[in-house]
Amino acid sequence: MKLFDVYPLNDITIVKAKGSYVWDSNGNQYLDLYGGHAVISIGHTHPHYVERVSEQLRKVAFYSNSIINPLQQELAEKLGKLSGKEDYQLFLCNSGAEANENALKMASFVNGRKKIIAFKKSFHGRTSLAVAATDNPAIVAPVNQTPNIIFLPFNDEASLEACFKAQGEEISSVIIEGIQGVGGINVASESFLQKIRQLCTQYGAVFIADSVQCGYGRTGKFFSHDYAGVNADIYSMAKGMGNGFPIGGIIIAPHIKPKYSMLGTTFGGNHLACAAALAVLEVMEQENLMQNAAETGNYLIEGLKKFPQLQNVRGRGLMIGFDVPEALKDLRKNLLWKHRIFTGEAKPNVIRLLPSLALQQKDADLFLEALGEEIAALTMQQATL
Ligand SMILES: Cc1ncc(COP(=O)(O)O)c(C=O)c1O
Repeated sequence: MKLFDVYPLNDITIVKAKGSYVWDSNGNQYLDLYGGHAVISIGHTHPHYVERVSEQLRKVAFYSNSIINPLQQELAEKLGKLSGKEDYQLFLCNSGAEANENALKMASFVNGRKKIIAFKKSFHGRTSLAVAATDNPAIVAPVNQTPNIIFLPFNDEASLEACFKAQGEEISSVIIEGIQGVGGINVASESFLQKIRQLCTQYGAVFIADSVQCGYGRTGKFFSHDYAGVNADIYSMAKGMGNGFPIGGIIIAPHIKPKYSMLGTTFGGNHLACAAALAVLEVMEQENLMQNAAETGNYLIEGLKKFPQLQNVRGRGLMIGFDVPEALKDLRKNLLWKHRIFTGEAKPNVIRLLPSLALQQKDADLFLEALGEEIAALTMQQATL
């Protein structure tokens, strides 16, 4: 059988990983500033993580949601403590798309409405409503198309107000990433998030903070939306939550009341996933990783801003993006193949950095040095053309 060929692949086989580094089958070492797409939060193969998951595997890996699983309660408490949202309620699932799917559905259950406001350049996942609320027609199948999604310009308070004024009674929810990831590292302004809060409260709509990529401590606060000083009604999470173990979830404000079988999943919240997620939070707490993300992130941002060739250096903590001019279009490729540094991208010309929250300053220095060398080499090459 062949694999269904949907991913353009780099010809690299990773066989070993530790902290912010991975190794390929030829023994080459790479600095990982991509984190497998913002997933590696506490660093690869962290000893506490390996131990906690292995120990759980030896006890019980899975049983369904028909029995009491104390690890779920333990996770809810720890998550409440670290996120500061102690009065919220946790529902566990398996991925970011599923988290958003549940959030959007939950909102509609709450207010009985159908319309969803999403924003230009948003990405919320590939399942039915999540993909419909994603601003990329190329990945929306005809069966997923719905007139219920309204796309508005990002950070545009006037158009948001006008939309609520015109059809506020029909709006079920507003979904927004605190920092758009796939869209190219676009930071939602504090006043825009505050405006969403105000309008959702005024019109009885549900504010959904998609924190799948920008959340879980990556920006230096637990949720990047927290920078605005307002609470959303639902936060969706995944990626960094399990440091590679598939787990997602939503946390739901106390005013939203549960009902039996309103939501459900077979695998969500299984023992092994909870052990992985608990290990992540324990390491984040013990090693002060949110603070490290803020500090190392600032250090990187400041370092990047010193290169006049890189445009619009932006982001928060360890979610960073910058525009690469046409003359340096091979920069990302060369960082990987010449300097063995993994970075992320956003089409057409953004390099995205999404490393582990445990990234050290010395690793940031290694990257900045390689970047400097490569910018100089490419600039020289251009000059001789
Ligand atoms: C902001 C955001 N939401 C949702 C998702 C979907 O998550 P998953 O791929 O786990 O379904 C992603 C994935 O990149 C994302 O960046």
